Amino acid sequence: MHAVNEYLSDPDARRALQDSLNAPYTAPVIRCAKFKITARCNLRCTFCQYWQMREPDEMSTSEIQRSLDQLRDMGCVKVHFSGGEATLRKDVFALLAHAASLGMKANLTTNGTLLDHDRAHQLLDAGTHSVSLSLDGPDARTHDSLRGVPGAFERTTKAIRLLARIRDRRGSRLKLRLNTVLTRHNYTRLADVTDLAAELGMTDVIPMPVDERLETAEHRLSRHDIERFNTHVAPIAAEVRRAVGFSTAPHLIWPFGRSDRDLLLAAEGRYARGYFKEHLCHVPWLHMFITWNGDVYLCCMARGKTEPFGNLRRQSVAEVFQGEGYRQIRGQFRRKMPSVCHRCDMFLAENAVIEQALSPANIGPGAPRRTPDNASPGESQPEDRTAAPRTGLRSGPESRSAATASAAAEMPPRSPGGTGTSEFVVLP
Ligand SMILES: C[S@@+](CC[C@H](N)C(=O)[O-])C[C@H]1O[C@@H](n2cnc3c(N)ncnc32)[C@H](O)[C@@H]1O
Ligand code: SF4
Ligand code: SF4
Repeated sequence: MHAVNEYLSDPDARRALQDSLNAPYTAPVIRCAKFKITARCNLRCTFCQYWQMREPDEMSTSEIQRSLDQLRDMGCVKVHFSGGEATLRKDVFALLAHAASLGMKANLTTNGTLLDHDRAHQLLDAGTHSVSLSLDGPDARTHDSLRGVPGAFERTTKAIRLLARIRDRRGSRLKLRLNTVLTRHNYTRLADVTDLAAELGMTDVIPMPVDERLETAEHRLSRHDIERFNTHVAPIAAEVRRAVGFSTAPHLIWPFGRSDRDLLLAAEGRYARGYFKEHLCHVPWLHMFITWNGDVYLCCMARGKTEPFGNLRRQSVAEVFQGEGYRQIRGQFRRKMPSVCHRCDMFLAENAVIEQALSPANIGPGAPRRTPDNASPGESQPEDRTAAPRTGLRSGPESRSAATASAAAEMPPRSPGGTGTSEFVVLP
């Protein structure tokens, strides 16, 4: 869902996408992809389950490179590498370099703890476009207690300084973004984290409300916490953002929204805050998510909510993306969005932009109109194509805004090791 504005500025692309929204639900391009190249991790984050998983069956370098070639052939312009901790794989720089050599923007999401001087240079040599580094507090006490490993703060901040220094020395345009998971234990520190990010030489901070099971609320902010956040934390963090020149897009300042209804839903972990009751997520048409063993899912949030749609060790990218499984799920999305999507805020801004671009006025006379079998009469269009659909909505970690798109984009696995309970269609 990368740079959808740019993609949909082409009327032919708009028409092709509009056509594909209706049966037989094929899709013209894969705009961006995410590879979880490993599930292994060296940290023990309290809000994440990757480190508890045992998934040794990883695709080889050449298998991933072949898939990258095929993604490029399908129109992919951006690929994210993540994990687990992607830098545990020795070939991570070769993979970034391969993606970059194909003309794709290559992004790495990492906790940064394993980056040293040589590896920082390799990262830049690979032609990496952006790096998202995770920091959940402005000091060791806050960060390390959430990351479960003493010394993590020290190692991550050291890596960020190093990367920023090497970037500047080499005159590189590498983007360094900070992902901060907002939990009830650290949300009051967001302004300090933002300050620190600027001091470390980063490009932006992406606040990511913690994702956890609806029935547990170990980390999630309560409604009272969110009110406190909106009254006392967000305005100061916004001031810092302005002062240091970071994006002041509303969804980065008010990640939980602002209305009473927003607060209620966000406190329940329903971060889409009702958006998908009336709107479509276009991820099944534009995005591919691939796990370490080649299994393909819609996105990281939906991993384990369906059977895999295919496997890139045995099938090509095109076979999977235009296959029966993907087409079925697209049809299902057109009828009703699955419940997992109501907890997801990953691509809210991009979805609003796409919907606006596909509105009849933007498709042109005579072109096929959007006639979904699930169209809601109440569907409204955002006023600002570059903004989130309503004040305070943010796009997902991977593409939090058009300006900060990319990076973070991941959520933790819901059910370690398994495909779990299917909330929507279970595919063969
Ligand atoms: C799964 S991690 C993988 C990359 C790397 N290990 C790291 O920590 O940056 C990807 C991103 O998801 C974030 N994340 C992990 N668990 C989360 C959760 N429960 N809710 C929201 N974001 C989460 C991490 O902080 C990180 O920015
Ligand atoms: S958030 Fe990243 S560093 Fe933490 S356990 Fe998950 S994968 Fe590892
Ligand atoms: S979980 Fe989120 S990104 Fe994935 S399909 Fe649903 S709304 Fe889209």
